Amino acid sequence: MAFAHISIHVLLALGFSQIATAASTKHVTCPSGNITANAACCALFPAVDLLQEQLFDRGKCGEQAHSALRLAFHDAIGFSVHGGKGGGADGSILAFQSSELQYRTSPFQKTDKLIHLAAAVGTANCPGSPRLQFKFGRPPPRAPAPDLTVPEPTDSVTAILERFADAGFLPREAVALLSSHSVAAADEVDPTVPGSPFDSTPGTFDSQVFLEVLLKGKHFPGNGSHVGEVASPLAGEMRLQSDFAISQHPLTACSWQEMVNNQHHMQTQFKAAMAKLQVLGQPSNLIDCSDVIPVPAPLKAAIKYPASFSKKDVQIACDLLSFPDIATVPGPAPTVSPVST
Ligand code: HEM
Ligand SMILES: *[C@@H]1O[C@H](CO)[C@@H](O)[C@H](O)[C@H]1NC(C)=O
Ligand SMILES: *[C@@H]1O[C@H](CO)[C@@H](O)[C@H](O)[C@H]1NC(C)=O
Repeated sequence: MAFAHISIHVLLALGFSQIATAASTKHVTCPSGNITANAACCALFPAVDLLQEQLFDRGKCGEQAHSALRLAFHDAIGFSVHGGKGGGADGSILAFQSSELQYRTSPFQKTDKLIHLAAAVGTANCPGSPRLQFKFGRPPPRAPAPDLTVPEPTDSVTAILERFADAGFLPREAVALLSSHSVAAADEVDPTVPGSPFDSTPGTFDSQVFLEVLLKGKHFPGNGSHVGEVASPLAGEMRLQSDFAISQHPLTACSWQEMVNNQHHMQTQFKAAMAKLQVLGQPSNLIDCSDVIPVPAPLKAAIKYPASFSKKDVQIACDLLSFPDIATVPGPAPTVSPVST
């Protein structure tokens, strides 16, 4: 993982500190020339530049940006509204690498303490994404989160929604968070095909993933460990069983379908759910440094069915909403290219 490239020593040399001062004025011009609402945020601009240059390959929405977003989720979700679990979005996944990072759902080896900043910056590199908030000044994490707080793709929808509820999220907020799978690929689900994207456009934050997970898939009836699985009908695309099951479940099917071809809705729902995730378990007096996050580029075009697909291929699971009309890309059925590292 490329997080290893940025050592905490570099960031400390830049004057970066987890402990921010509470001084606040309307507009401050930082030594870097950047303008922010709060002087305490000035320390972050050089860190943002460093992340963009060194981690995200000059501002790309590639593998590292995707990984940063996922790592932020894994760090934060180790939290329970009922107590007894970890400290939430506290950076503990980084500070306590020897435990949280060794859980089987946390494949990150070595990294730094900037995970929630990195996630917001990396996501902003994906055209179509909302500009996520960033709150600064988390106290040092106290302990690693316990194991088994991160949902697995083989878990039932009931188990997944229970885990999200335990962390404080409604079913529709869980669906909103899964917008992240629009900028995502799997390396470990099937290690023989690393970098297999969850939709045909892993470099843009669009509702293509909500559409493509609904396409009728290839079935593996009565076949050992694959019983009941429905794989993506698109060559090269990975479909998580959990995403498909959530798209079909009565508690989530309409929230899922509502995202399809509804970019503004997807952005606002994701931004709101992420705002909760990013401060889970954190004190309420963090400093709003959202203005250090770059403004994402807008999406250039509406989503389309991949070539050769149309509405007849959609496995509709929500009766309450009409399904949107969407154009089809011309040509023969595509093969989705892997996300390279
Ligand atoms: C139902 C809950 C979820 C399950 C079961 C799940 C499962 C997974 C799995 C199995 C992968 C592929 C890992 C690999 O093989 O490399 C993945 C990737 C990813 N997930 Fe999730 N996930 C869930 C929710 C979330 C949430 C809430 C977020 C963020 C808010 C998120 C963000 C990502 C991202 C960005 C990737 C791509 C990572 C990369 O391409 O490097 N996931 N997820
Ligand atoms: C901060 O200023 C630098 C130098 O002008 C610029 O390249 C960078 O984009 C600015 N950052 C933000 C988040 O506006
Ligand atoms: C079972 O499913 C897998 C899917 O990964 C497939 O490769 C295999 O050929 C199937 N076996 C049988 C007997 O259908």
